[in-house]
Amino acid sequence: MRILIVDDEEVLRDVLEAVLRREGFEIVMAATGEHALAILDDDDNIDLVILDIMLPGISGIDTLRALRIANPYLPVIVITAYSSIDGAIEAMKHGAFHYIPKPFKNEEVVLTVNKALEQRRLSKENERLKAELSQKYAYSNIIGKSEPMRKVFELIRLAAPSRSNILVAGESGTGKELVAKAIHHASPRARNAFVTVNSGSLPPELLESSLFGHMKGAFTGAIATKRGLFEVADGGSIFLDEIGNINLETQAKLLRVIQEREFMRLGSVETIKVDVRIIAATNVELSKLMSDGRFREDLYYRLNVITITLPPLRRRREDIPLLVSHFLDKYSEENKRKVREVTPDAMRILMDHSWPGNVRELENTIERAVVLCTTDRIGPELLPEYLRYPVDTEQPAMVVPADGLSLKDSVSRYERAMILQSLEMANGVQKKAAELLQLKPSTLNEMMKRLGIHTRSNAAIIEDEVTIVE
Ligand SMILES: Nc1ncnc2c1ncn2[C@@H]1O[C@H](COP(=O)(O)OP(=O)(O)OP(=O)(O)O)[C@@H](O)[C@H]1O
Ligand SMILES: [Mg+2]
Repeated sequence: MRILIVDDEEVLRDVLEAVLRREGFEIVMAATGEHALAILDDDDNIDLVILDIMLPGISGIDTLRALRIANPYLPVIVITAYSSIDGAIEAMKHGAFHYIPKPFKNEEVVLTVNKALEQRRLSKENERLKAELSQKYAYSNIIGKSEPMRKVFELIRLAAPSRSNILVAGESGTGKELVAKAIHHASPRARNAFVTVNSGSLPPELLESSLFGHMKGAFTGAIATKRGLFEVADGGSIFLDEIGNINLETQAKLLRVIQEREFMRLGSVETIKVDVRIIAATNVELSKLMSDGRFREDLYYRLNVITITLPPLRRRREDIPLLVSHFLDKYSEENKRKVREVTPDAMRILMDHSWPGNVRELENTIERAVVLCTTDRIGPELLPEYLRYPVDTEQPAMVVPADGLSLKDSVSRYERAMILQSLEMANGVQKKAAELLQLKPSTLNEMMKRLGIHTRSNAAIIEDEVTIVE
């Protein structure tokens, strides 16, 4: 560690030098502020400065100011001969960390130096953790190489640097929050806050007070003035999850923040200016809510400047093995296990499932399997029952939708649902199932082949998802 001592009194410099060298520090010395600044200019390895506030030429305070501008993170300890506290206060205003009045004891100097260096170390550590966190949410952590995911990556890359509001759409568990964080961390706002608001779960008044804050007494229970999340997120991003659940009144206020970049706390008439980027998420179709009059059209178009639609997992099955290996690593490490792979049998089941809960469901499945696993491989027996013996829950449509449907697919689904159900009732015995459905066993067998239903050893039924041609 290298310390720069700035003091015009030679005796003092020598004392400090001797004390600190004894502690193992390297010492550089300057007699004036000008000299100190020149040294700092070409020596990048100074870790700390001890600065006398009373200097000839440019004053200690001016030196401190210049030093701060050049290197805001360099810790500075100020010494002054005047025991007056004023000099110290002035120095603190300019960002000196510590203050030692003259005369001082040697131990006091050593103690303060160590404290300042420790503080520096901690703030460096903090920086590192922040960088690590950014890394964690970097989009390299969003797994996927399928075509629809590539489009998602491309959109994130293009949209992140801008200030534009973004709408992230997709079924539950498709990674909307993950994408929102990735956008924030890839944006110039990364160093400021990312604030998540769960718009869906709060009653309207509470939602508004958490978004915009409130004044003391604004409503029953508002016992103190509170800042809103829009203030907390100033300079950063706000993530409005489940935006479709926000009521019309709050929507109007949101629109104002977006348009005017200002808002008022509940119970206040004072406007507060903020610079916040909005990332909204929805798992319902906002355009539908809009035509029902439950979502403001103007807000919709404001939020929807850029839409990133996350594909459901069943539409990108080639990503399943990648995700599986990602979660194997994640949960092996978390549980101090060495589970390296899933058996081909288990993988087939994972590839076949329709994953209504998307990536979250897959993640939970792998976590559970890793925890239960006693070897280094996951076999089918470690997968939950409902995956191994699935029941077709996707009911065939009974109403022809406006954009039409394939009658053939609908009928197939209906047949599948009936066959799977009767196979289950018959414990997988096809002859019995055929009886239940009043079919000849050979007819049932033929239909099962056509519909991709096959029975497994020990009467387990495994289905392939019906391939729906889109
Ligand atoms: N592409 C992906 N790569 C890696 N992990 C993912 C991916 N997509 C989702 N996940 C993981 O799946 C889980 C669910 O993701 P997330 O919370 O972002 O989904 P969501 O769309 O916000 O769901 P919901 O609508 O239910 O809130 C998280 O643990 C997330 O880390
Ligand atoms: Mg979510």
